[in-house]
Parts: sequence; C-alpha cells; structure tokens
Amino acid sequence: MTTQLPAAASGQFFIGADLPVNRLGYGAMRITGEGIWGEPTDLKQARATLTRTRELGVNFIDTADSYGPYVSEDLIREALHPYPDMVIATKAGQTRHGPNIWKPLGRPEYLRQCALMSLRRLGLERIDLWQLHRIDPQVPEAEQFEVISEMRKEGLIRHVGLSEVSVAQIEAARKYFPVATVQNRYNLSDRQSEAVLDYCGQHAIGFIPWHPLAAGALPGPNSAVAQIARRLGITHGQLALAWLLKRSPVILPIPGTSRIAHLEQNVAAATVELSDEDFAAISAQAA
Ligand SMILES: NC(=O)c1ccc[n+]([C@@H]2O[C@H](COP(=O)([O-])OP(=O)(O)OC[C@H]3O[C@@H](n4cnc5c(N)ncnc54)[C@H](OP(=O)(O)O)[C@@H]3O)[C@@H](O)[C@H]2O)c1
Repeated sequence: MTTQLPAAASGQFFIGADLPVNRLGYGAMRITGEGIWGEPTDLKQARATLTRTRELGVNFIDTADSYGPYVSEDLIREALHPYPDMVIATKAGQTRHGPNIWKPLGRPEYLRQCALMSLRRLGLERIDLWQLHRIDPQVPEAEQFEVISEMRKEGLIRHVGLSEVSVAQIEAARKYFPVATVQNRYNLSDRQSEAVLDYCGQHAIGFIPWHPLAAGALPGPNSAVAQIARRLGITHGQLALAWLLKRSPVILPIPGTSRIAHLEQNVAAATVELSDEDFAAISAQAA
C-alpha cells in the first residue's frame, strides 16, 4: 500500500540546493477578489482550498504581498501557519492602485519594508523564498540587487527569486546573490522564456512557470493535445501540467485556483505518466 500523497508524485526539487519541495505547487493569487483586488467572493471556499493543499501533499505555495494586496498572505497564515514542512514563497516590488493595476516599485527602502511586512503578515522569522516581482526599470538594478543581498545576509530571507527576467538580468543579479528561482510566464502556448528555462536547467535554478494551465488555441478538436488528453482520460489542464513536469526537472508549476475541486484536479496531474512520444507530439504542436 502506498501512502504517498498525490503532489509527491511530481518528484522533488531542492530550492537553493537545500530546501526540498514537491515540484507541483500551488499559486495563491486566485484566492482574492476580482482583478486580484480585495477579498474573494467565497472566503470559506478560499480557506478550504488552502487547507486542502497540505492534505494533497502540496508543500510549495507561491504568493505575493500585492495579491489583494495582503489578502493572499493573510489567508495563507490563517489556514496554514506555522507551515510544517511547507515552503511559502512570496514576492514584492509591485504596488497596487486598484483592480488589475500593477506598478513596479524597486526603491531599496520600499523593498526592505515589503520583506519586513511579509515576515510580519506570514508570521515568520525568515522568508524561505523571497522573489523580486519585477525589476523596476526606473531604479538602478544595482540598488535593487544590493538591498536584496543585504536582506539575505541579515537572514530576513533565505533564498532569492526573480520574476519576468531575461538571462542577462539573471546573470547581473547573480553577481549580488545566488538566484534560487526564476518565475516567468511559460506554458504550452507561450514559450517565449525557452532560453531562460534552459539557462535555469543548466544552473540548477528552479523555474516557476506562471499561468501554467494556459494552452491558447492548441487544444482544438483534432489537435494532438485534445487527442492525447482524450486517450489518457485527463483534462487539457492536466495535460498542460504533465507536459511542464516532463519538460524539465527544474520546473515547479504553480497552478492557481480558488476551488477545491479544481485544486484536486490540478494536483492529480502529478500522477499522469506522459510517454516520450506524447510529449514530443505536444511539444511539436506547441513550438
Ligand atoms: N510572477 C508573476 O508575475 C505572476 C503573474 C501571474 C501569476 N503568478 C503566479 O502564478 C500562479 C498561476 O497563474 P495564474 O493563476 O495566472 O494561471 P493558471 O494557474 O494557469 O490559471 C488560473 C485560472 O484557471 C482556473 N482554473 C484553475 N484550475 C482549473 C481547473 N482544474 N479547471 C478549470 N479551471 C481552472 C482558475 O479559476 P478557478 O479559481 O475558478 O479555478 C483561474 O482562473 C498564480 O496563482 C500566481 O501565484 C505570477
């Protein structure tokens, strides 16, 4: 009899070489209101979804101070603190001025305040993975990287991640601190970050593809995606996640949902066995 929880079937990745997580994680952006602003319409369901993550073996949760703002971090603390054997990865560096409005702010004093406030909200003494949500083009990169390096040395944050970056930006940041993860948009139909993903694979940097469930127009009625999903008896979303998990061992997908049923469906993708032939057929269609 196996006691393995479903998320564990995705295999492990060691963030920063020393922090093991099951590769299939959960993105906590959708447990907020419309436009990622304010509280979710169904608070009870959002709380229950978070609680269910742990029961399914999900031990890697992605959030950001700007989700809500604060709503996502607050709910995570309520549902999961003190996070036994879980890694809560948060992000900062985006300000919010209303639903769907995001403005980067990378002033070093602001980034430090963000980290301190995330620590307080999440009830932590150190953030396992703190990610710069965006490099602010209005602030010299060196100033942003310098304060992150200081916070790491002071022990406020354990590992550092970047988001929406190029290979050149990762290399620039690595002069200040080890880059443990990169979070760029990447999915079946959006493969613009292919070079960044390959770079992460070469350097054991975790690659966290956001919007992982998207497939654009790929699953048309007679497409490879649709045919393979039908044969395997799985949804297009599950196939998209299984494809990501097979694409590279450094990939950590973080599908987001506010519903338990969708969470369970997404985590079940960890148990899908995708043959090399099916993987190649889907990759060819997606390319
Ligand atoms: N770094 C960045 O700049 C950045 C940007 C965006 C997102 N992110 C992170 O990435 C995570 C994932 O991104 P995302 O939420 O944009 O995209 P996603 O996970 O690909 O898709 C989420 C959407 O799909 C729906 N969904 C989820 N599971 C489903 C299922 N099994 N069946 C049908 N619909 C389903 C959700 O609605 P329901 O709630 O109804 O299930 C939601 O509308 C976020 O939670 C966040 O942590 C990062």
